[in-house]
Amino acid sequence: MPLADWFLRHSVTMWVLLQSFVLIAFCFHSATTFPKGCYHAEENGYKTIRCSNAQLVEIPKNIPNDTRKLFLDFNHITFLPHDAFRNLPLLLELDLSHNAITRMEIGAFRGLLENLHSLDLSSNKLVSVNKDVFSNLKAKVNLSSNPWLCDCKLQELIGKVDLMAGSSGGIVCDSSAQEEHVGKPFLQLITDMDFCSVYKRTTDIAMLVTMFGWFAMVISYLVYYVRQNQEDARRHLEYLKSLPSKQRKSEESSTISTVV
Ligand SMILES: *[C@@H]1O[C@H](CO)[C@@H](O)[C@H](O)[C@H]1NC(C)=O
Ligand SMILES: *[C@@H]1O[C@H](CO)[C@@H](O)[C@H](O)[C@H]1NC(C)=O
Repeated sequence: MPLADWFLRHSVTMWVLLQSFVLIAFCFHSATTFPKGCYHAEENGYKTIRCSNAQLVEIPKNIPNDTRKLFLDFNHITFLPHDAFRNLPLLLELDLSHNAITRMEIGAFRGLLENLHSLDLSSNKLVSVNKDVFSNLKAKVNLSSNPWLCDCKLQELIGKVDLMAGSSGGIVCDSSAQEEHVGKPFLQLITDMDFCSVYKRTTDIAMLVTMFGWFAMVISYLVYYVRQNQEDARRHLEYLKSLPSKQRKSEESSTISTVV
């Protein structure tokens, strides 16, 4: 019975092959349909994806494009590239709190503009953020518990962003040009201080100093030039005086004769 013999001899190989095929198919299936560590739920009739505490280091791909609420909190995400949420036009709520986000590219929230009404970026590692990151965003934003650098850039950002009610007290200075601001809530500081006018004043002073420097250089050059010329004129005069009058006369007559 050669056929049975063949089967017996190859059964182990075939079994291994079959198993790997199933494994590959399974992996491929899960990779194309749903991000690892996330699960799907229906909350108050809204399609919700929860990826909290999933050891994520970046925004997962393949989040269904009809998701209304997305929870990415308590992960290790450090960076939001532009168009990170582009395929989620229906998203209402985005929770990115308790990550390690230090940098967000301009256009990171592009595509979320109209529908998004809540964006949680609290408890991250944000120090300084360009205000244009949030341009056109209608959402209420929580920026609490980040190591903020209190300066004009933060003031501009706060001016542009719609803060979540009750979250403004959580924006505390971790560093500032002025030591006494550290540990203070930023919104309290900007009620009686304009961080941008301080900045403007220093640039104004720098301009003034530069202009004065140029002016001083021009003046000193002029003074030098006039002095030098005076010296030359004086020396020439002295030379003329020192010439014997006869020689001068003969010189004069010779010039006259040559002219004639
Ligand atoms: C989601 O993607 C599918 C397939 O590409 C598309 O047909 C559908 O219109 C998209 N839904 C939304 C809300 O964009
Ligand atoms: C904003 O974030 C802080 C820190 O995570 C949290 O304690 C606070 O409740 C949040 N505020 C709102 C309005 O969600």
